[in-house]
Amino acid sequence: MVKKIKKIGVLTSGGDAPGMNAAIRAVVRACADYEVECVGIYEGYRGLMRNEMIPMGPRSVANMINRGGTFLRSARCMEFLEPEGRVIAHQNLIKNNIDALVVIGGDGSFTGALKLNNEFDFPIVGIPGTIDNDINGTDYTIGYDTALNTVVEAIDKIRDTASSHNRLFLVEVMGRDAGDIAISAGIGGGAEEILIPEKKNFSIDRLIESLDHSHETGKTSSIIVVAEGKTGMNILEMRDYVNKHRPEYDVRVSVLGHMQRGGSPTCFDRVLASKLGVAAVDALIEGKTNIMIGVSHRTPVCVDLNIALNKNRKLDTNLLRVADIVSK
Ligand code: ADP
Ligand code: F6P
Repeated sequence: MVKKIKKIGVLTSGGDAPGMNAAIRAVVRACADYEVECVGIYEGYRGLMRNEMIPMGPRSVANMINRGGTFLRSARCMEFLEPEGRVIAHQNLIKNNIDALVVIGGDGSFTGALKLNNEFDFPIVGIPGTIDNDINGTDYTIGYDTALNTVVEAIDKIRDTASSHNRLFLVEVMGRDAGDIAISAGIGGGAEEILIPEKKNFSIDRLIESLDHSHETGKTSSIIVVAEGKTGMNILEMRDYVNKHRPEYDVRVSVLGHMQRGGSPTCFDRVLASKLGVAAVDALIEGKTNIMIGVSHRTPVCVDLNIALNKNRKLDTNLLRVADIVSK
């Protein structure tokens, strides 16, 4: 028989993402709706190991829907990678009478969650929270939409100065090994070229040919969006190569960095986080475990955590074609 859940712990782990606070808020308030206790765990798995937790009720999450980052804070906790670390974490869960855990994070956090479940049969549900959108089985991760809008705003600003000086800008965006941010923000920002890890046939000479062609057709400035993951050449090597072979192009590099992870979440991310937070608590109350709550065609779906972690996730290849056509 499935054990009745009386107390749920919630934590945010790995890189923070806008909308994590909205997800915590939804978990806390869904627990209240079920009359189940809820406890917030600070700094992801680190707080679990150090027993740093706080009881939470609906008022603990007031004015949180619009705040970026995560008020529970997050961490990359190396001790949790070791089995001994997870023993301590499990002991603290038991000591605090926590019956189940909601883990809001990316693939690393889900891998840790799976291990905790496999080793101690502890009920866990994951919510995808990362700007990278690199989780299999969900159309979107929390924070991705906000990051996209931040990147597009930055590209718009770069375009103003690029076109004023007839310059070529190489703009590096985040995404770890995934090109989702680059391809969507590249299309949305009107980039001339978008370089992503999923496109394996990178050639700098072809890139230069394409820039020459743009020049011949009357373009006086260009923006190239480069994903931070492996694209064949890093952004500084690209700049040096273009400088050497086309000294007439005035090249500048802009690495957008961590500003992409900050800021108030978009309405899309707030609604997504709210939906997934409520569905995560529903799932735990129904006795489900080892799943991620993703979203497919606007509806929350339960995805086996092993499937969520599948590395063979495919990028929407139609976007590559669209990018190619609209950048001409
Ligand atoms: P994200 O969840 O955003 O992918 P990380 O990869 O940094 O971020 O993972 C977050 C945390 O999850 C790590 O600091 C660690 O505590 C835990 N974790 C990651 N990978 C593993 C693993 N293989 N085994 C156990 N715990 C892990
Ligand atoms: O996973 C989110 C992310 O922002 C990635 O896009 C990026 O590669 C990484 O985290 C940066 O990590 P850190 O903040 O530890 O430098």
